[in-house]
Amino acid sequence: MKNIQIAPSILSADFAKMGDEVRSLEQNGADVVHVDVMDGVFVNNITFGIKMVEDIRKITTLPLDCHLMIVHPEKYVERFAKAGADIITVHYEACQDNLKEVLALIKSTGVKCGAVINPDTPVEKIADVIPMCDMVLIMSVFPGFGGQKFIVGALDKLREVKAIVQKLGKDIDIEIDGGVTADNVAEIKAAGANVIVAGSTVFKAQDRAEIIKRLKNA
Ligand code: DX5
Ligand code: ZN
Repeated sequence: MKNIQIAPSILSADFAKMGDEVRSLEQNGADVVHVDVMDGVFVNNITFGIKMVEDIRKITTLPLDCHLMIVHPEKYVERFAKAGADIITVHYEACQDNLKEVLALIKSTGVKCGAVINPDTPVEKIADVIPMCDMVLIMSVFPGFGGQKFIVGALDKLREVKAIVQKLGKDIDIEIDGGVTADNVAEIKAAGANVIVAGSTVFKAQDRAEIIKRLKNA
């Protein structure tokens, strides 16, 4: 069983206090910082980009997990890598024809790579690229916004990915993103996820250390 990593999403942070928010994640036991990059085209929302990664990189040693919800991610992966990303994940839906090439490009920059699928995309669409991934990200909400409800169908997808990863015998992380709470996290881990993204659950909590611990140990 792989170590459980809690990856709070700074999408739910106060953007006007981003430095303090990231420091607080580090001090309160987060393992990873999940960075939701949105372009207003691939998803119906706009967040931040390369400079945010560059500036956060200076104030934390936590790994930066950059989830690119953008069209043509191949145009930007080198700059995200240079800015300090530790892992870059790209959507199957944004690179249906060149997912393999984009993942290889990410790897060539020296950072880890991952493929992401939306709730309405079956695992089989990325089955052929899983062997080249360091991580597979299963979306349990439609991307764009924090605070949505967990889509239960993601659990079967986690089991499916876990079976593929086990068969490959490779060290591949399985990440879940969207609607994770203290109430559903145990089931999510049991289904196979070991990297747990949590946005609103962490940022809305009174006590961040306590909620991160609960998510980790549930
Ligand atoms: C959704 C983002 C998620 C989001 C999760 O597009 O990819 O990372 O921040 O937020 P919660 O945990 O609030 O669902
Ligand atoms: Zn995300």
